Amino acid sequence: MKKIILVFTVLLATSLFAADGEAIYKTKCFSCHGAKAVKSALNKSKVIAGWEAEKIIQSLNDYKNGLGGPMKAVMKPIVSKLSDEEIKAVASTIAAYK
Ligand code: HEC
Repeated sequence: MKKIILVFTVLLATSLFAADGEAIYKTKCFSCHGAKAVKSALNKSKVIAGWEAEKIIQSLNDYKNGLGGPMKAVMKPIVSKLSDEEIKAVASTIAAYK
C-alpha cells in the first residue's frame, strides 16, 4: 500500500510539474506569442520557440527587473506575477517547442 501511494505521489508530482509550464504558457503567453511560441508577439518580439531554457529565464528576469527591448513595458507586468518556479516551468515548455 505504501509503495502504491509513493508511486502515485511521484507520478502526480511529475505530471503536475509538466502541466504547469504548459498551463502558464496557454493562459499567459499564448495570446501574443502564438501556438508553440512561433509568432512574433505584436510583430515586435523575436520568435522564442526552441530558445534555450536558460536564455528564456534570463530574458524573463530581465523584464522583471525593468530591462528589455522597446516593448519591455508589455512584458514587465506579465512576468512580475510569475514566481521563479513558474518562470522555470514556462521556460522549459517554450524550449521544448520547435
Ligand atoms: C501582451 C502580449 C504579450 C504577452 C501576453 C506575452 N508577451 Fe512576451 N513579448 C511581448 C512583446 C511585445 C515582446 C518584445 C518586448 C521587447 O521589446 O523587449 C516580448 C518578448 C518576449 C521575450 C523575449 C523575446 C525578444 O524579442 O527578445 C520572451 C522570452 C517572452 N516575451 C516570453 C513571454 C512569456 C514566457 C510570456 C508568458 C508568461 C509572454 N512572453 C507573454 C508580448 C507579450
